[in-house]
Amino acid sequence: MKKDILTILDLTKTDIDDLLNRAIELKNLQKQGILFRPFIGKTLGLIFDKPSTRTRVSFEAAMIQLGGTPLFISAKDTQIARDEPVRDTARVLSRYIDCLAIRTYSQSLLEEFALFSSIPIINALTDLYHPCQVLSDIMTIVEKKGRYDKLKIAWIGDGNNVAHSWINAAAVLGLDLVLACPKDYYPDEEILKRALERGRGKIHLTSDPVEAASGANVLYTDVWASMGQENEHKERKLVFAPYKLRGKLLQYASEDVIVMHCLPAHREEEISEEVLEGPKSVVWDQSENKLHMTKAILEALIGGKSVVL
Ligand code: CP
Ligand code: NVA
Repeated sequence: MKKDILTILDLTKTDIDDLLNRAIELKNLQKQGILFRPFIGKTLGLIFDKPSTRTRVSFEAAMIQLGGTPLFISAKDTQIARDEPVRDTARVLSRYIDCLAIRTYSQSLLEEFALFSSIPIINALTDLYHPCQVLSDIMTIVEKKGRYDKLKIAWIGDGNNVAHSWINAAAVLGLDLVLACPKDYYPDEEILKRALERGRGKIHLTSDPVEAASGANVLYTDVWASMGQENEHKERKLVFAPYKLRGKLLQYASEDVIVMHCLPAHREEEISEEVLEGPKSVVWDQSENKLHMTKAILEALIGGKSVVL
């Protein structure tokens, strides 16, 4: 049966551990200059309804490096923009390509794609989740710290799509996660409730950034206004000001803290230039790992070795 990754809850702890190990192996292969092309003749479609630099290019590069072909499909240039039903598009594309990564607004649109496609569907970001981002972030944490458990991971800022994927990851992997968000910008209650019901991991919510940062091994932030929230930007800048990741906040963290940001970053908003470019920041390695984790994800979903005749 085909497998989709619509949220991190689609994966077990074993699935994620396998992806982490494989992504690290694939990174090593690439660093040694070893060509690995299992996807000759395979095609990955990318339907993007929102802008992207890292996710789009890392998916495209991953597919090319694995010997396959990425096919970028601008949603506005398809019949989706002229209201062709998702269920029709999904069934037609399934006849042409081997896997489909989608970046869009609504999680339910993604779910509809998954329901009517016979090929794997990957969430490349929705308003609700960004699972592939968090999987590659966990790979970076494992690289830097040798583990993902027994670490205090602190999310500082908006309770947004990336935060939701962290909550899901905490529930599946048993992470120690604390999120500091302004009260009106807490993560979605249902998502939090479902994660807590799994009984795995310590997930704690606060509105105090200092409480979250104290003793943290990982400090993570993201933009204050996500794509689609541009008209709230001005108001959010005022509310979120105390949540800026700056030197003063870093002083409360553990000596060995690493600073993460999924990027794009807004310097002197959610993060200071000094912290983003400082010695604790791992954001460039974090960005690179999106490529390696994407390869592991594609391999797990598309699978199979191609035969060249
Ligand atoms: N982190 C991330 O998803 O970046 P892009 O929006 O550039 O893809
Ligand atoms: N929360 C951000 C993540 C960007 C990668 C957004 O959705 O715009």
